[in-house]
Amino acid sequence: MGDLSRIGVAIDTQLLRRFDRFIAHKGYQNRSEAFRDLIRDRLVGSAVVAPNAFVVGTVTLIYDHHTRLLPEKLTDLQHEHHHVIISTLHAHLDHESCLEVVVLRGKSKEVQKLADRLISTKGVQHGRLVMSSPETAADHH
Ligand code: NI
Repeated sequence: MGDLSRIGVAIDTQLLRRFDRFIAHKGYQNRSEAFRDLIRDRLVGSAVVAPNAFVVGTVTLIYDHHTRLLPEKLTDLQHEHHHVIISTLHAHLDHESCLEVVVLRGKSKEVQKLADRLISTKGVQHGRLVMSSPETAADHH
């Protein structure tokens, strides 16, 4: 390991409680090691595909549609990037929560960038991109 840096992270108490249960279940001795593993995992996961490789992907978003201007922001973003988006599925889970699945196709860097913007939009509670390269997938057949 190289030089160590200490960081402070503000985190929702409930979320931290869930994280602590999760890492205890996984056998971590402390939060630092668990955080490092999560960060490494995330970095590796996003570096596998070359920036110009053709990929398909889905972004799954969970959000509260009462959050001010959030549905509009997400729709605007999708219209701005219509050339990368194949389809969007929207499900109203209950009175507050929405599930949106956006199907993407294009260069890895474009898909990744749009996914990052959707997921990091303020008010989105949970988001995840799953990316696949059709050429790679074809190798398995
Ligand atoms: Ni909805």
